[in-house]
Amino acid sequence: MAKLHLITYGCQMNEYDSERVAGLLKSRQYDLTEDESDADLILLNTCAIREKAEDKVFSRLGQLRALKQRRPDVVIGVMGCMAQLHQAEIQRRAPIVDLVFGSPAIARVGELVEAVRQGRRRILDTGEAPLVKITARPASASRLKAYVTVMEGCEKHCTFCVVPTTRGRERSHAPATILDEIRGLVAEGCREVTLLGQTVNAYGRDLTPPTDLAVLFAQVDAIEGLARIRFTTSNPYNLTARLIAAIRDVPKVCEYFHLPLQSGSDRVLAAMNRGYTRGEYLRLVDALREAVPDIALSTDVIVGFPGETEEDFRATLEAAAAVGYDNAFVFRYSPRPGTPAAAMPGQIAPEVKAERNARLLEVTRRSAAARSDRLAGRTVEVLVDGASRKSARELSGRTRCNRVVNFDGQGRVAPGDLVHAVIDEVLPHSLRGHLAPSEEAVCSWR
Ligand code: SAH
Ligand code: F3S
Repeated sequence: MAKLHLITYGCQMNEYDSERVAGLLKSRQYDLTEDESDADLILLNTCAIREKAEDKVFSRLGQLRALKQRRPDVVIGVMGCMAQLHQAEIQRRAPIVDLVFGSPAIARVGELVEAVRQGRRRILDTGEAPLVKITARPASASRLKAYVTVMEGCEKHCTFCVVPTTRGRERSHAPATILDEIRGLVAEGCREVTLLGQTVNAYGRDLTPPTDLAVLFAQVDAIEGLARIRFTTSNPYNLTARLIAAIRDVPKVCEYFHLPLQSGSDRVLAAMNRGYTRGEYLRLVDALREAVPDIALSTDVIVGFPGETEEDFRATLEAAAAVGYDNAFVFRYSPRPGTPAAAMPGQIAPEVKAERNARLLEVTRRSAAARSDRLAGRTVEVLVDGASRKSARELSGRTRCNRVVNFDGQGRVAPGDLVHAVIDEVLPHSLRGHLAPSEEAVCSWR
């Protein structure tokens, strides 16, 4: 068996793609190794969303130079969004790279690697390709939880974002293919799926006949043995009353919604080409909370978008405080090649971005703490993941609102069980609890 070392950067889509690549290469006799110095093939699955993500990849490639000098036979490949965006630069700056391929070429990874090995020449494959669903997974992938891509690409063209360039047009996978994949996962013990798409709530509108995420939820819900459905990322622009009703009505869909705000200023939202105003966003939040009162909300926000004034930024602080997020990801604006915002006047100084970043994080940290505090004393449903990281005597799992809970119960319940736990203590990054009285598994799947 040859050895594959896989280094994954970026989002859940990339994690999903890496699993597929490992699964495909497994059938070509490559086993995963944690140790790069032991590998015959090293693949970097890259992210281009911000400049920092790219810097990490170039510095990793720099570190791999010595290994390649020592063992010129090692094949080094770069895949994913940077491969798509920066083929030429990668080849120029990192001559140790033998293979560069974009996500459309993943299905052919075996052939590409073989061609490099046989010909010892550098290969570039970043063209378009038909949409294929690859379901191969390596043995090391988590059995209990899985990502399932339901659509690829994005055509929203937010002015800051490189994804439409790196991931191409919006294309949905057919429901039958998705359902088959999930059934296969469940047969191997999967209990929770996260349906992935860059604008997952736009799912299905490009299919014939068209469908939508609400219908897909109901279809996935019907799969016996599956316990939970999550989904990400949604765009406020496509959030329909039908989808909100489905989140309320479809039992396995968890009460957690990631709804990127990006900015609380209408002027900035318009310059970002997001397609909604702050008022529309806040009304969606009201509608979600009315339908599902306990829903947990998380978000992405960009600080320091070109032209963002102190007043614009305050509007973002206010919107974030008004929503009261359970969790928020705050990013400093990073100019991306070829995007309209990169050429806009009024680029913001790094110190100003850093300062706004800190102020916004303070607001979101406070609301996240307030949201956690509400859970004290409550009984919550937990999907058991396994032993707790801190103590082997304790179990760890997640609530439907995606909080980590550590609790007693070793020996009484097992990974994959759905149980109820009473929350005794709210800590900054987790909850502590105990198994609800007389509680064995609510829904044991063994
Ligand atoms: N499809 C998702 C976004 C995917 S990118 C959506 O509709 O929102 C994930 C997050 O990265 C975005 O939500 C945004 O907050 C952030 N991001 C994207 N481009 C960025 C850039 N150029 N600079 C800083 N943050 C960026
Ligand atoms: Fe990017 Fe906007 Fe699509 S943030 S992924 S262009 S919805």
